[in-house]
Amino acid sequence: MNLQKYVEEHTPWLIVLTLVLVSFGTITQIVPLFFQHSTTTPVEGLKPYPALQLEGRDIYIREGCYNCHSQMIRPFRAETERYGHYSVAGEFVYDRPFQWGSKRTGPDLHRVGGRYSDDWHRVHLINPRDVVPESIMPSYPWLAENAVHDPDIQTKMERLRLLGHPYTDEEIAAAPAALEGKTELDAVIAYLQGLGTSIAHRK
Ligand code: HEC
Repeated sequence: MNLQKYVEEHTPWLIVLTLVLVSFGTITQIVPLFFQHSTTTPVEGLKPYPALQLEGRDIYIREGCYNCHSQMIRPFRAETERYGHYSVAGEFVYDRPFQWGSKRTGPDLHRVGGRYSDDWHRVHLINPRDVVPESIMPSYPWLAENAVHDPDIQTKMERLRLLGHPYTDEEIAAAPAALEGKTELDAVIAYLQGLGTSIAHRK
């Protein structure tokens, strides 16, 4: 019996064997990444997001900022000249899910932390045209009007701690107070100002 002919004529076998082969290829590429030192160890100085930044990050996701902004600087000269040191895997250990994005309608934001003042961000997020006249970025005026209200902040941090984010009991206890009186705009700005700043080899 010709095995190849048999498999090709019996579609269920063809499907099953194709799936086995493709899964094998995928698994051999993906599984090692879970154990590789460089992808699982935080870079020196990396800390899990403080409460306010964590909220800002959730708002960033809610507003869909990732649709226009990547957070992944590639190791090419054109990128490092513009954005700073290329992104390394160990910087994303406390990003669940990571915000690498796949489209750049606007600039990459991975190292935007510290590039502008808080006031610049405030004006820019409420109406980008006030600081960059040709900007096509949408305005987010409601961020300044909404208070950060998250009764689940402590649960969020505890769950992240279960996954290995090293929050201390004190940090979790202090979280609600850290959000008090803050607007969503404060939270997003805190998040942006922290981006890409943890590592020492920043350009
Ligand atoms: C429709 C696409 C789009 C969306 C959605 C978007 N942006 Fe932008 N963003 C841009 C463009 C284009 C620029 C460049 C012009 C400018 O500075 O306004 C920009 C610039 C920026 C800058 C300045 C970056 C730099 O290095 O100069 C920041 C910070 C920023 N956006 C944050 C955000 C945040 C936070 C959100 C979500 C609340 C967001 N953007 C949503 C398109 C977008």
